[in-house]
This record gives sequence, C-alpha cells and structure tokens, in this order.
Amino acid sequence: MALLGAFLCCVLAAWHCRTGLGLPLAPAGGGCPAAAAVGQFWHVTDLHLDPSYHITDDHTKVCSSSKGANASNPGPFGDVLCDSPYQLILSAFDFIKNSGQEASFMIWTGDSPPHVPVSELSTETVIKVISNMTMTIQSLFPNLQVFPALGNHDYWPQDQLPIVTSEVYNAVANLWKPWLDEEAISTLRKGGFYSQKVTSNPNLRIISLNTNLYYGPNVMTLNKTDPANQFEWLEETLNSSQQNKEKVYIIAHIPVGYLPFSSGITAMRQYYNEKLIDIFRRYSNIIAGQFYGHNHKDSLMVLSDKKGSPVNSLFVAPAVTPVKGVLEKETNNPGVRLFQYKPCDYTLLDMLQYYLNLTDANLKGDANWKLEYILTQTYDIEDLQPKSLYGLAKQFAIPDSKQFIKYYNYFFVNYDSSVICDKKCKALQVCAIMNLDYVSYVDCLKQYYIKYGH
Ligand SMILES: *[C@@H]1O[C@H](CO)[C@@H](O)[C@H](O)[C@H]1NC(C)=O
Ligand SMILES: *[C@@H]1O[C@H](CO)[C@@H](O)[C@H](O)[C@H]1NC(C)=O
Ligand SMILES: *[C@@H]1O[C@H](CO)[C@@H](O)[C@H](O)[C@H]1NC(C)=O
Ligand SMILES: *[C@@H]1O[C@H](CO)[C@@H](O)[C@H](O)[C@H]1NC(C)=O
Ligand SMILES: *[C@@H]1O[C@H](CO)[C@@H](O)[C@H](O)[C@H]1NC(C)=O
Ligand SMILES: [Zn+2]
Ligand SMILES: [Zn+2]
Repeated sequence: MALLGAFLCCVLAAWHCRTGLGLPLAPAGGGCPAAAAVGQFWHVTDLHLDPSYHITDDHTKVCSSSKGANASNPGPFGDVLCDSPYQLILSAFDFIKNSGQEASFMIWTGDSPPHVPVSELSTETVIKVISNMTMTIQSLFPNLQVFPALGNHDYWPQDQLPIVTSEVYNAVANLWKPWLDEEAISTLRKGGFYSQKVTSNPNLRIISLNTNLYYGPNVMTLNKTDPANQFEWLEETLNSSQQNKEKVYIIAHIPVGYLPFSSGITAMRQYYNEKLIDIFRRYSNIIAGQFYGHNHKDSLMVLSDKKGSPVNSLFVAPAVTPVKGVLEKETNNPGVRLFQYKPCDYTLLDMLQYYLNLTDANLKGDANWKLEYILTQTYDIEDLQPKSLYGLAKQFAIPDSKQFIKYYNYFFVNYDSSVICDKKCKALQVCAIMNLDYVSYVDCLKQYYIKYGH
C-alpha cells in the first residue's frame, strides 16, 4: 500500500508540474533556469530472452536456461530458474511506453541471449536474438534514440568478444544504424564501442564502452595492455569532449569496481579496472554519470579521487530477467529505471526504479509494473551527485542502519524482504559502494573489520 501511495503521489506531482513540453519542472537553483524542464531517460538491461520458454507439465522442459532443472513455479511472465519469456520483455517495454513519462532517450546495456550452454547457441542464433530485441524496441519506440552497449552474452562463444571486427559487430552496426551516426557505426564495427551525441540534447555525448574486452573469461584479450585500442580511443574522445565543452554519460555492460557480493573480486580484470578508474578520475569533471548492467542486481557506486573526495556517481541497474542458479537463494524481480537530469548541464537529479512482482504477475496473469522507489525520496537525499551518494554510503556503514536495510532489499528488487545481510556481507557491500580501486578497497575492508569486528 505504501508503494501504491508513493506511486500515486509521484504521478500527481508530475501532473501538477507539467509544462508545455509535457515534462516535469526542475527544482529551482543549482545554476539552471528555474523554469527549465527536467530531462528524463530510461535504462534497461540484461533482457536475456529465452525463446524456448513455454508452459508445460514437465518442468524440466519449460526453458533451456534452467539447464535441466525443474522450473520452480512457471507462469506466463517467467520463472526464477528461467531467462525471460518474450511476454515478460514485451510487458516491460509496454509499461515504459504507457507510463506517461516523457523521455528523450533510452540506454540499453546489453545481454540479450539466454544463459544456456555454448553448444546450444551459435553466431547466427545470437544475432537473431539481438535482432529480435532491436526490432521489438524500434517498433514500439520508432521516435526514440536508443544507445545500446554490448554484453558478454551478446557474442558466440559467450564472453569471447574480439579486438577486431566480427560478424556480430557488423550485424549490430547494421541493426543500430537508426540511432547512431557514421563515425559511431564505424568504431562499433571495428571494436564493439562508440561515442554518439544525443540528438535531442545539445552538448551531451554518450560513450558506450565494450568492457567485455576486459572481462576475466575473455581469452581474446589475455596479456593485452589496450585491447582494440579502446583506452586510447576513450582518452581521445574524452579529451575532445572536454575541449568542446560537452558532458558525457558513460554506459557499458560490465561495471568498473568490486562485486558487492564477493570479497576482493572486481567485475573486470583488475589491471583494466585500475586503467579505467585512472581515466575516469582524470575526466571526472565532464563525466556526469556512469550506467552499467551485468550484475543483475541494483547497486550504487561512488568514485572518489586519489585524495578521497567523491567525484563521480555510478549506477548498476537490475536485470529484466529474473533468472538465478538452482543453488542461489535470492534473485531479482524484473526491473527498469528512469533517470532525471538537469537539461542545462546533465547533472543527475533523481532515479525512479520500477519493478514487476513476478510471483504476483504470474498469479494474476497480468503484468502490473509498479514504482519500487524514488532514490532521493526513499533515502532523503538532495540529488544524485557524488557528494550526496557518498553521504548516503556513510549512513549505510553505521551499524543497524535502516537506510542500509532498505538498500539491501532494493538490491534484489523487492524479491525477499526477509533477507538479511550479516556483518561480513555488509562490509563487502559498503566497501564496494565507496571504493573502486584496489588500494582504497582493501583499506576499507581492513578499516571496517577493525571498527565493527567480524
Ligand atoms: C523434476 O520434478 C519431477 C516431479 O516432481 C521429479 O520426478 C524429477 O526428478 C525432477 N527433476 C529434476 C532434474 O529435479
Ligand atoms: C521475437 O521472438 C518472439 C518469441 O520468440 C516472437 O514471438 C516475436 O515475433 C519475435 N519478434 C521479432 C520482431 O522478431
Ligand atoms: C600471458 O602471459 C603469461 C605470463 O607471462 C604467459 O604465461 C601466457 O602464456 C600468456 N598468454 C598468452 C595467451 O599470450
Ligand atoms: C588533450 O589533447 C591536447 C591536444 O592533443 C593535449 O595538449 C592535452 O594535454 C590533452 N589533455 C589531457 C587532459 O590529456
Ligand atoms: C508479490 O506478490 C506476492 C503474491 O501476490 C505477495 O505475496 C508479495 O507480498 C508481493 N511482494 C511485494 C514486495 O509486494
Ligand atoms: Zn553480462
Ligand atoms: Zn546478464
């Protein structure tokens, strides 16, 4: 009921502030004209379509992505042991389309194919799934500019994204032409990354990185210092953005930083993580936000400079697929999110996380996507600036922090509110939020143990 209340409240607030553009008004102050409309964009990630999903009495046969295990409670919108049925993905995009929210673009951070053994896919089937997802988005949102990033599953064999052109890079370059200019298409073809100005927003550039080149399991990049020369290209791109007085949003599939649920493990190889952190620190004044997928869970990160001052806000979005392994206790409900920013300088103001209660949707045969939380309201913070998120993370660190209990429930997208994060679990979460490089992360874990014990 509280959720429904919050949702209605938000709808009403948005309604009251509508301008001629159909956009809510920005709060006054902070260097923007008071009457400027708020800009908005959607973030969707990890769709993981499983085309084999179907309801049948033999639960081992519901989906290939359960890998022979019995689906747990399969319904029309999916099952926690399966990747997404097409109907789940369609319900997410239908919700976005009919939400009444005006967005000027969408970011889509990869992983369209299902989690199935390598032998059950091929280059052709991977391209077919990415093509299906692209067509689905293009037909529902013919006038929306979408910025995709490739995921580690958007390749066959999975994770092995190459440092030279390939069939998949060529296929996506062709599929994504409606959203990108010639130069972007050309680097996408060569290395699976690009930068592209946002058509509706002057001086805003999206940099879509192929961080799969830095992923541990990728043997194509073993011992390479700068796979596909992406680091060099990134520095040049950021340098020219700086000279042209642009602001940049970084998008990619595999995030920088440490995995919040395991000790001492970076999402990408540590060497590449340090390289990226160094570049992001040097250009943090023009990077207005960073957006990732891959972990399937909802988490925040704050990048600090070498002296420990917060300089960048990073957001890892939860997946649309609810899939988990047989041995995992928790998973995520399907989620999609909407960001709000100041149109004058692209400063991030807020984030609205929406979700589908999968159990409920299957029970009722109806996908009732709802607001899960509004970031500033749920935590009572001012905006999404690095300082605000850093302050929040410090509150999380306090023993028995109610803010952190909320955060941990949102981590799984309201999947199981009884889930408990013990001291070690919490140290890993909090240190991963605030420390993205090796030295500060290790130091944080040490400090945390000294302060709060094991
Ligand atoms: C699936 O469930 C059926 C019926 O309960 C059971 O007989 C079978 O052993 C299960 N299969 C697996 C792989 O768990
Ligand atoms: C995508 O795949 C789904 C399920 O396999 C199918 O129903 C749908 O028609 C396909 N759409 C496109 C555009 O290929
Ligand atoms: C990478 O470097 C290590 C250590 O120098 C070496 O053992 C390994 O064979 C190299 N691998 C490749 C693929 O070049
Ligand atoms: C950006 O490039 C210019 C010209 O190539 C160079 O002089 C400058 O040092 C670069 N800036 C940074 C921050 O690397
Ligand atoms: C999800 O739906 C189920 C079934 O209707 C309900 O029992 C559960 O409380 C719901 N979860 C949340 C977080 O609302
Ligand atoms: Zn992934
Ligand atoms: Zn994924």
